[in-house]
Amino acid sequence: MKVVKYLGTALIGTGLLFGCSPEKPQEKDTTFVQEKQSAEEKLYQNYCLNCHGEQLRGGYGPGLQKVGRKYTEKEIQTIIEKGMGKMPAQNYIPKEEQLQLAKWLANQK
Ligand code: HEC
Repeated sequence: MKVVKYLGTALIGTGLLFGCSPEKPQEKDTTFVQEKQSAEEKLYQNYCLNCHGEQLRGGYGPGLQKVGRKYTEKEIQTIIEKGMGKMPAQNYIPKEEQLQLAKWLANQK
């Protein structure tokens, strides 16, 4: 009579690593800040870039680099909310983000 024994080896991973050294770049020179994107740039990328292109240069939609000369903050917010011509309304964007974007764009002159 043969008895074959299988030894199941259960490996339980308990190696959780805590306390990765907290070397955060806190005291960095402020000139590096510009490498970071502003909140508005992120919003633009999320909502507008597909049509209006990198760096506001335009694509399917017109360039927005000097849009602040053409429209006020309020007008831009209305364009975002209601759309305009071939631009569909972007009214799924939370109002405060629309306002943030509009303010930022109104300063692109
Ligand atoms: C689906 C593509 C699309 C998206 C997304 C889009 N746009 Fe547009 N946008 C257009 C098109 C196309 C026009 C031109 C409309 C026309 O004149 O018929 C336009 C026009 C505009 C104008 C007027 C420009 C001018 O010179 O008259 C503004 C301002 C504008 N868009 C802002 C935005 C902002 C801000 C967002 C992001 C929240 C956005 N758009 C998202 C396609 C888009």
